[in-house]
Parts: sequence; C-alpha cells; structure tokens
Amino acid sequence: MSNAERGTRNAEDTVEGKPSPQPSPHPIPRSALRLPRSEGRRDPRNRLNDLTGSEWLYFLSSVLTTAYPVNGSESYGHNLRRAHPSPKPPQLMATLIEFFTQRGGRVLDPFAGVGGTLLGCALTERDGVGIDLATGYRDIYHAVCTQENLAPQPFLIGDARAVLSGAADDADPLAAPFDLVLTDPPYGEMLSRPQEGEKRKRTGRADPTPFTDDAADLGNLTRAAFLAALVEIIGLAAARLRPGGHLILFAKDLQPTAEHHNLLHADIVARFAAALPALRFRGLKLWVDQTINLYPFGYPYSFVANQIHQYILIWQKHADPEERRSR
Ligand SMILES: C[S@@+](CC[C@H](N)C(=O)[O-])C[C@H]1O[C@@H](n2cnc3c(N)ncnc32)[C@H](O)[C@@H]1O
Repeated sequence: MSNAERGTRNAEDTVEGKPSPQPSPHPIPRSALRLPRSEGRRDPRNRLNDLTGSEWLYFLSSVLTTAYPVNGSESYGHNLRRAHPSPKPPQLMATLIEFFTQRGGRVLDPFAGVGGTLLGCALTERDGVGIDLATGYRDIYHAVCTQENLAPQPFLIGDARAVLSGAADDADPLAAPFDLVLTDPPYGEMLSRPQEGEKRKRTGRADPTPFTDDAADLGNLTRAAFLAALVEIIGLAAARLRPGGHLILFAKDLQPTAEHHNLLHADIVARFAAALPALRFRGLKLWVDQTINLYPFGYPYSFVANQIHQYILIWQKHADPEERRSR
C-alpha cells in the first residue's frame, strides 16, 4: 500500500513514542484515506494495536470525516459493491480494524453485505470472517476480490442466528476466538419502508429497497422484533469474542415521529446495557460522509435534518468476570 493510499504523515511522535498535542485532523486531506502514518515508536505496553502514539491520538477524535473515492482503484471495487443498498467503504473499516486489533488479528462481521469489513481486513493484514443471508452479496464480494487481486476471506451464508449457534469444529472459521466484531446491521426497518418526499421525487420510485426479501432479514422486521433479533445475534457474536475484545456496530437514526424520538443508536445502547451484561459500552464516534448529497427536506415549511452521519458504537467484552460483578 502506497503512502498516498495510507494517508499523509501527521506531526512527529516524541522520541519515547508518547503522543504530543496535534492539530485537529479536520478537514482531512483528500489523500488521507486511512490513519495517517507516523515514524514514531509503538509503546511496548500497547497490547491493543500496532499504532504509534500519534496514530493512536489521531483516532481519538470523536468525529471521523471522510470523502472516499467511489471510482478508480482507491474505491476498492465500488463499481461492483454499489449493487448493495449500503456498502461500507473498506478504508473506513480498515481504520477501525487498525485501532482495535493487531496485525494478524481476527475480525467477525455477522452482517457482511458485500464485504466492506472483509476488504478492510485484507487492507490491514487481518483475518476476517463474514456472514450474510444473501448468496448474491457474497458473489459480489468474490468478484471484488478477483478484480482487486485480493484473496477472499471466509464468508458463510445463512441467518446469523443459525450460523453463530452452530457447533464449531476445528475446520470451522468461527472456531477460534475473535479480537473484534465489526458490523453494520440493517438500521431497523429503514430500507423496507416505502420511500417518501424528496427521495421519492428524486428517484421517481416509491417502492422500498430492502436488503433481501427474506423473513429473517432484520431490515424487514418491526422495531421491537428488530431490536430483539439484534440483541440475539450480537449476544451470539460476543460469545465468540476473546475477553477484552471489542464490538463495534454502525447505527443510523430514523427521522423522529410524534410517537418516538427514533434515536435508534440510543435505543440500541440501552437494550444492550439491559440484555448483554458481558459487554461494556465504551463510547462512540460519528462518521461523517462528505460524499452524501443534501436534499431540501421540509423546505420551505419545516425543519427536517439531512443525516450525513452515522454512529460508530463501541463496546468491550469484560476481561475478567470479577470486574463485571464489581460494577
Ligand atoms: C447494512 S448491510 C451491511 C453492509 C456491509 N457493511 C457492506 O459493506 O456491504 C446489512 C446486511 O445484513 C444482512 N442481514 C440482514 N439480516 C440478516 C440475518 N438475520 N443474518 C445475516 N445477515 C443478515 C443483509 O443481507 C445486509 O447485507
């Protein structure tokens, strides 16, 4: 990977590899597709990742603003991946993977789509395993690997509930514990709803665009059923995390209604706190995607926000059962 792909170099580390104050990373340079590299030393106490102090500090910003290319070699097969309603940029996934794992680490994505996480693993020399309901999405991921000359990572087909409940044997790619679960589930029933307003005017289509027409697709469930299924799948995935490993989930809010604030990310954090005691919420980052167009929702009558951000929600599996008991 060239320096241009990896991003520009940030300010120098101190000799000891300790982070020194840095200028705000925003706005990002056009070439900063990944964490900026620096020549500093990695602290020998760092067991989490392979980053130097400056690289670590850069990641700590609560906002990650990106404008990844959607064509050419730096788009990592976006020409094929765009057949999916919401593919994630592999460079974005690579940035998260680089912070929460070391080289050679293991990453699980139970809602793999067309492989944003798995491609992020290939870019960072980690071992990924994906699961998705749709064979067609795995086919697209394989086509991207062929086009980009990358070795495909294991990609299992089925309802993540069934796949993750299956008994693992040695040959099973799920057998060894994972360092990170990195996933991007459906955002409630967002895509399976008929399109409205500006989006409908723009696309000329009112029909919904669900990921699949499978009844097991979380994107086709009501809010209550969605949250229950998400808790079940994340609970099964977290059981395959090593103690101290992290779980990262993307979420996007829906527009508020008179009945509910529709802050889906807050509902997810609250549900996990109640139902998944092995996980401790560690905080969030906002991903701001500058390639998203703005639409004049509500104009000129009322305020309706464009959402150009998503939530990157971060949990950690308790390292020690004692720690959980003493909370
Ligand atoms: C938001 S997309 C993930 C996109 C992915 N991050 C990418 O880069 O392509 C959510 C995915 O979850 C899958 N899915 C929905 N319900 C599922 C289930 N019960 N088990 C496994 N996959 C499921 C859908 O087919 C869809 O591809």
